[in-house]
Amino acid sequence: MKLAIIFLIVFILSTTLFAASNSSNYEIYVQKCSSCHGLEIIEKKQKTREQWKETIKRMEKYGAKFEGKQNQILEYLVNKK
Ligand code: HEC
Repeated sequence: MKLAIIFLIVFILSTTLFAASNSSNYEIYVQKCSSCHGLEIIEKKQKTREQWKETIKRMEKYGAKFEGKQNQILEYLVNKK
């Protein structure tokens, strides 16, 4: 019984933490990627990790400032559906 409760607590904690880290990647992405164009053109694209890296670099050439948050944006883009 004790064990079941411990499992339950660990489960709840880990899903909460996972959701929190996911939403912050998403928030950074929304902040950084929506200033020049809408997010729709991004959401409808499916690209590989390498292609998204190239896209982020291209956006920087257009003047985007990602302030070292590229990896978090990349994680969101690679995992989005
Ligand atoms: C400084 C302005 C600017 C910012 C900020 C910006 N973009 Fe763009 N983006 C552009 C311009 C200009 C185009 C159209 C020219 C082109 O496609 O190269 C574009 C086009 C695109 C396209 C369509 C073309 C393609 O590669 O499939 C995607 C996807 C895209 N941007 C993704 C992003 C993502 C992801 C971010 C955030 C990491 C972002 N953009 C932030 C300027 C910007």
